[in-house]
Amino acid sequence: MSNSDTGALRLAVLVSGSGSNLQAIIDRRRTGELPVDITAVISDRPGVYALERAAAAGIESITVDYRAIGNREAFAATLGAQLEALAPDLVVLAGFMRILPAALVDRYRGRMLNVHPSLLPKYPGLDTYRRVLAAGDRWHGSTVHFVTPELDAGPALLQYRIAVGPGDDEATLRARVQSGEHRIYPLAIRGIATGRVVYRHDGIWLDGRRLDAPVVIDEAAACV
Ligand code: GRF
Repeated sequence: MSNSDTGALRLAVLVSGSGSNLQAIIDRRRTGELPVDITAVISDRPGVYALERAAAAGIESITVDYRAIGNREAFAATLGAQLEALAPDLVVLAGFMRILPAALVDRYRGRMLNVHPSLLPKYPGLDTYRRVLAAGDRWHGSTVHFVTPELDAGPALLQYRIAVGPGDDEATLRARVQSGEHRIYPLAIRGIATGRVVYRHDGIWLDGRRLDAPVVIDEAAACV
């Protein structure tokens, strides 16, 4: 159900904050590397920088203000109706900080992606940088995964991996991981848009083969 004029995959991008991943998608789209239409950017908060990025790129933006709505069910109903009207092929969570109810996630099973700053299944949830440092882990990174109702637990497609060094702190880890996200998120979306990546009930398929584990791109070797 891609755009019938252009053949491009129709995205709806959900944001809550800075929108640097949104920007990476916009930039790759602009260079022609990403055959997608961004139908709208939806924020759960007014005034966030991601909305300015959308405006600067001429993309429609919608705010479904969680605080003003006041409860999870009504928020999900409003968001669900907005998504239904947009009819996206893929819902892209890009720094979106709300946990969505199972019914809404199920409606987009296989058509909703998230990027999470850890090497899932390690460290679902918040504060991943602090937790990695506290545990003395040798590796950290980020994962692009399909969204299922269990938090940060859906099938993983692509990971960016960095070695944690003795000089790293939360800020350096975040900067390195996020610059990796800006590479792997557009890459994952491109895989779906071009049909190389297919989500099926039995797993994720890449180039006609079922993935046993996510594809891993190492920072040291990254030139995507
Ligand atoms: C990203 O690092 C992502 O892993 C997490 O939220 C962060 C915010 O990113 N889900 P962005 O700048 O708003 O895209």
